[in-house]
Amino acid sequence: MSGGGMSGGGATGSGILIVGSLNADLVVRAERFPGPGETVRGSELVTLPGGKGANQAAAAALLGGDVRMLGAVGADAHGELLTGSLRRAGADVDGVRRIDGTATGTAMITVNAAGENTIVVSPGANDRLTADDVRDSDAFTGRGVLGLCLEIDTAVVVAAAQRAAADGATVLLNLSPYAEVPDALLAATDVLLVNEHEASTLLGVDVESVDAAEVASRLADRGIRRAVITRGSEGALVFDDGDHTTVPAVPVSAVDTTGCGDAFMGALALRLAAGETLAASAAFATVVGAYAATGHGAQSSYPTLAQLEAFRASR
Ligand code: RIB
Repeated sequence: MSGGGMSGGGATGSGILIVGSLNADLVVRAERFPGPGETVRGSELVTLPGGKGANQAAAAALLGGDVRMLGAVGADAHGELLTGSLRRAGADVDGVRRIDGTATGTAMITVNAAGENTIVVSPGANDRLTADDVRDSDAFTGRGVLGLCLEIDTAVVVAAAQRAAADGATVLLNLSPYAEVPDALLAATDVLLVNEHEASTLLGVDVESVDAAEVASRLADRGIRRAVITRGSEGALVFDDGDHTTVPAVPVSAVDTTGCGDAFMGALALRLAAGETLAASAAFATVVGAYAATGHGAQSSYPTLAQLEAFRASR
């Protein structure tokens, strides 16, 4: 349902569909990032399940969501790693195509001593997912929320958003990694999730230097009435059809921030699918994102509901 009238749930069921990327994350830790032309010594290489789409699906499924994943991997060991991880999290991977002759997407990740990362993605099979795969899929049935990111072809993202919007589902779009997108995609989007840098680029203004009313007005100019802008240690700003609220951050000592935004997105999708308000969903997602920063890797750092409750209780 585009235009933002629905607070969650949706006319098409409480299930979640994620259409997006799956990557094997090749991770090395180093004291600091190398500069251009520089070599630094790192830790042992580890290969972990990742990819923004798969991470979102894993986060929502681990927390108890009814989640389906639509995407593509190669017929290789990395593909097995990714579908296996999603299955163990509880997600349905029948919609993940296994494509012969193409490598599964990979992400080369360096994590520094502060837990920050740099990531270079080789898309591999993610680029073989087509708009026809989306149009022909039966994975949309019973899905009240569709989660999207920009690590697959934009034409595929648009096709998925338009199909879900036509079905009356809530379309949740994470503009990451940031790219200019067609107005048709924003028109089919119910809830936009961006960090402050992405928001500033999209809206043509430094969102930290203007008030929330100005941000809301600029969002409305782009046809967006519901949005969450994450601001790191400043928490998140939630815009919901004329109202705006601030969700405070959950301070943690970060070990590795890889995939924290994807955990936030998965948790947001979960709570919107359960019919919660955008502000309440964002507050829950903030805790999940913070938890994810306390462990190594992306999916490997995501909590079950029981682990999240223990984390909350310990604070
Ligand atoms: O957002 C984190 C993810 O970005 C990693 O898992 C990596 O695969 C890249 O897609």
